Amino acid sequence: MGNCWGSSAANPSSSADTHLGATGTSSQSTSTMTITTTSAGSSISPISHFSASSGDEASPHGQILPHPNLRIFSFAELRAATKNFKSDTLLGEGGFGKVYKGWLDEKPSSKNGNGSVIAVKKLKSESVQGFREWQAEIDFLGRLSHPNLVKLIGYCLEETELLLVYEFMQKGSFENHLFGRGAVVQPLPWGLRLKIAVGAARGLGFLHTSEKQVIYRDFKASNILLDGFYNAKISDFGLAKMGPSESQSHVSTRIMGTQGYAAPEYIATGHLYVKSDVFGFGVVLVEMLTGLRAVDSSRPSGQENLVEWVKPYLSDRRKLKTIMDSMLQGKYPSKTVYEIAQLALNCLAPEPKSRPSMEEVVRTLEKLEAATERAADSRNRSGSRPAAHRQVQHQLPLPPPPPMQPRSPLQSRHNGISAYQHSPQLR
Ligand SMILES: Nc1ncnc2c1ncn2[C@@H]1O[C@H](COP(=O)(O)OP(=O)(O)OP(=O)(O)O)[C@@H](O)[C@H]1O
Ligand SMILES: [Mg+2]
Repeated sequence: MGNCWGSSAANPSSSADTHLGATGTSSQSTSTMTITTTSAGSSISPISHFSASSGDEASPHGQILPHPNLRIFSFAELRAATKNFKSDTLLGEGGFGKVYKGWLDEKPSSKNGNGSVIAVKKLKSESVQGFREWQAEIDFLGRLSHPNLVKLIGYCLEETELLLVYEFMQKGSFENHLFGRGAVVQPLPWGLRLKIAVGAARGLGFLHTSEKQVIYRDFKASNILLDGFYNAKISDFGLAKMGPSESQSHVSTRIMGTQGYAAPEYIATGHLYVKSDVFGFGVVLVEMLTGLRAVDSSRPSGQENLVEWVKPYLSDRRKLKTIMDSMLQGKYPSKTVYEIAQLALNCLAPEPKSRPSMEEVVRTLEKLEAATERAADSRNRSGSRPAAHRQVQHQLPLPPPPPMQPRSPLQSRHNGISAYQHSPQLR
């Protein structure tokens, strides 16, 4: 879930980051939810300002359900599903707590393409912030449905135990693939990086264009999860907020998020714009190009913050080449890569209004992806090997990984640090 950065915003009255859970006191319209625990378990009564669709069927364009459509699990069920939270079922760990792989003792359902495999996120301690994020996840993700948002299946609330149950995402997080090391994680070819960027952009675009806009607030590579075919799905809505009312440009809120991804206007003022998310998207684009983390304190002085460091390299084709991820071994279309770098620069504009909308970002990325596919097709026709991302679309095995070698000429890869290391936290 979101990493927290313990700073108060310029506007202290807006400390109502109680986007959920409490009775809504903030000036913006928020989704409000009350959770009551009864002897029979927990129940959730959502009172919401989302505009809702009535149906329950999956929609390729996404939909907002009138109520969280979630299953309530008992702690015993989830303990059994994860073999008592056994260490060999551990998938990773974030600010909220540990995430385990689990198996439900039931017949595989065709609805959830993975049968009964689940991911179980377990709150690590009793913290008010953890509880809020748990609630926010249920209220937002329990009602938002889109092919590029991870599916929340249910939750557990029993005494002090708070858990969330998700569809299992076979390929883990984009972060693991970009920065992970060792035999388990192989370098991602360019075509897959682009495919993931398109998927993640569609997910964010859906949030921003829903009738009542949702600001995600924690966009980063570790919150982009990948299914078996590298379809990207955004996870972790713990810090999400409803967008501003029509008469306002932003919402004011406590500053939370992840260092290196958070937009400058938000850090400086606590004013959160829909386009603050676009800045985070730009940071991920730069990570995808360079294979370097948004923040890495082990880099030499002046290079710790990726965006500040590489911005001057993005607008110059020749310089851009020198910061490209060496794991790609030069196997990328230079023209497309340059255009993505320009898109990233636009997303990283200091002023929110100068940034493109996520709809525009999606359109640009789709155009570039289509051009890349056309180029791959024409290469195929002329007898060369198909591009890696085409192979994945047709569900063929990935090409063998290139041998490991140092990262971009400017900076070696993140010191062999575990794939699950986290970015510096902002709370
Ligand atoms: N639904 C899922 N399916 C498979 N793996 C998952 C799933 N959810 C999370 N994970 C794994 O668990 C790791 C930790 O996820 P988590 O969201 O708790 O932390 P994070 O995103 O790394 O950090 P943060 O707390 O800042 O969000 C992820 O990197 C991913 O590898
Ligand atoms: Mg996460």
